[in-house]
Amino acid sequence: MLSQDELKTMVGQAALQYIHAGDIVGVGTGSTVNRFIDALAANKGLVQGAISSSDATSERLRSAGIPVLSCNEVLRVPLYVDGADEIDPHGYMVKGGGAALTREKIVAAQADLFVCIADQSKLVQTLGSFPLPVEVIPMASERIMLQFRELGGYPSVRLQNGQPLVTDNGQHLIDVRGLQITRPLEFESMVSQWPGVVTVGVFAFQKAAVCLVGTENGVKTIRYG
Ligand code: 5RP
Repeated sequence: MLSQDELKTMVGQAALQYIHAGDIVGVGTGSTVNRFIDALAANKGLVQGAISSSDATSERLRSAGIPVLSCNEVLRVPLYVDGADEIDPHGYMVKGGGAALTREKIVAAQADLFVCIADQSKLVQTLGSFPLPVEVIPMASERIMLQFRELGGYPSVRLQNGQPLVTDNGQHLIDVRGLQITRPLEFESMVSQWPGVVTVGVFAFQKAAVCLVGTENGVKTIRYG
């Protein structure tokens, strides 16, 4: 039986097939993406540089000798590789378990192809079992939590060492349990318009084009229409 880490390593390496030598690529955040960064580090010179979705990823890329460029200087990349907390049969995802959802959505929006790398535990029929991360402006968090309660959700502010976690963007995160997100496009549109919401962790408009899923029998490729 392969370990979770071995499955992550497999999909991290498999994502290399989508890179053309000399590309600048978008790089997500999380333990699965860290294995992709390891694969880039082992293939020195394959990419010219990267745009990054978090301070943690930027630091890892730089340690691997990969130049990190800003999204304002590189407006378009051919590829974005990132993990997910949940992915449904259409390629719609919940992301943000690692608190990087806002920059992940920005980088995804600047990429031609989103390749999700995940182990099979992330495949779901309906989004919502994983607590939905929502980055918010702190002064709006109580009202936004009320709005989620009205939808039947159970929101809470994400804490770190007993204090609200502060994101790379200086904001707070709410995690919402108990939702069943059956219409991800409509849900993302609606919540994104609530005043004080910076980013909702439903990635429906920036969905995956491909998911590389780590299984006991190797890497399975799922393509979404
Ligand atoms: C970070 C994310 C990650 O992609 C997601 O949490 C999956 O992480 P991991 O690969 O560690 O399971 O959205 O904000």
